[in-house]
Amino acid sequence: MKIKKNFTILAIDTSCDDTSAAITLNDRVLSNVIASQVEFHEPYGGVYPMLAKRKHQEFIEPAIAEALRRAGLRCFEIDAIAVTIGPGLAPALEVGVTKAKELAKKFKKPLIGVNHMEGHLLSSFARNSKGIGPFSKRKPRFPILGLLVSGGHTQLVLMMDFGKYQLIGETLDDAAGEAFDKVARMLDLGYPGGPIISELAKKGKPKYELPVPMIGSRGFNFSFSGLKTACFYKLQKLPKPWNKQFYCDFAVSFEKAAIEALMIKLKRAIRAYRPKQIILGGGVINNLRLRKEARKAARQFNLEIFVPYDKKLFTDNAAMIGVCAWHQAKRKDFFKNTDLLDRKPNLNFN
Ligand code: KG4
Ligand code: ZN
Repeated sequence: MKIKKNFTILAIDTSCDDTSAAITLNDRVLSNVIASQVEFHEPYGGVYPMLAKRKHQEFIEPAIAEALRRAGLRCFEIDAIAVTIGPGLAPALEVGVTKAKELAKKFKKPLIGVNHMEGHLLSSFARNSKGIGPFSKRKPRFPILGLLVSGGHTQLVLMMDFGKYQLIGETLDDAAGEAFDKVARMLDLGYPGGPIISELAKKGKPKYELPVPMIGSRGFNFSFSGLKTACFYKLQKLPKPWNKQFYCDFAVSFEKAAIEALMIKLKRAIRAYRPKQIILGGGVINNLRLRKEARKAARQFNLEIFVPYDKKLFTDNAAMIGVCAWHQAKRKDFFKNTDLLDRKPNLNFN
């Protein structure tokens, strides 16, 4: 099957705590609806999987209807349906997969199963509805090195082409975003902690010495649990009450160490794999220091670096799934038997 020149996709992502539906036309985003569940999970200080499932079930139909409405399309006019099959929380993924199968059958549409992390990786290739995006003036030049930093994953991925990836490093324990969230919890700052810590960090001085994780280790893997533990013991030694300046100083001390750890491995991977371009993805790239340091690293090696055109594409969203699915459709990567499509909570590259 040769795909149409203008291929529209209804994409769904329910991998974690955001219910998202989007309509894409090739690599253009026509709509990207994200129903956040953060307020419901906040009292638990993290994502509570069964609650996530219930909220996805509640939000999914309105999210799809809104995505179609904003794009001015109806479901029967769409060319294919795409859904995240993993990695993610099994009960959460299940809601999206079930809905996608139901719609594919009802409207007799081909179904595309997407790797959520491939979605994050390709988020910089998304363009807006007018065709403007990071790659609208630049061509991809392979190999491209991707740094993916989210609440569930921290990965370095070498991209040889669309669909050809090599995972070269990942976290051995906590993800970078998870470390931000856990340290924020130690400071009683609320959830999710990444945005709160990065806001406080802007007004702080890095007064507290914290270990940069895996600084001396070889290879390209990450580890953030040691830094988290170091924060815990350091905080125990610092007498309360803590004033506002203390929070800012501690936040920036932690942020600096966490980001330096990411940069050490990014630079090491650049030296070893000689990529031509760099792409960033995942919720933690909201962090200004991270984007600044990554740009600095790219400049040092004379490389182009790209981030998605819209912040909505940093955190979990279905538009990146639609863009990824379009590249899959071009390689005829459709799911042959709709009934057999299943969630894969531990899906990875390779
Ligand atoms: O990609 P994402 O939405 O979800 C996953 O797939 O995990 O990333 C969410 C993570 C959370 O851990 C959140 O604290 C972190 O991204 N985050 C940040 C910032 N904004 C969000 N971390 C550091 N600085 C930020 N500004
Ligand atoms: Zn994600």
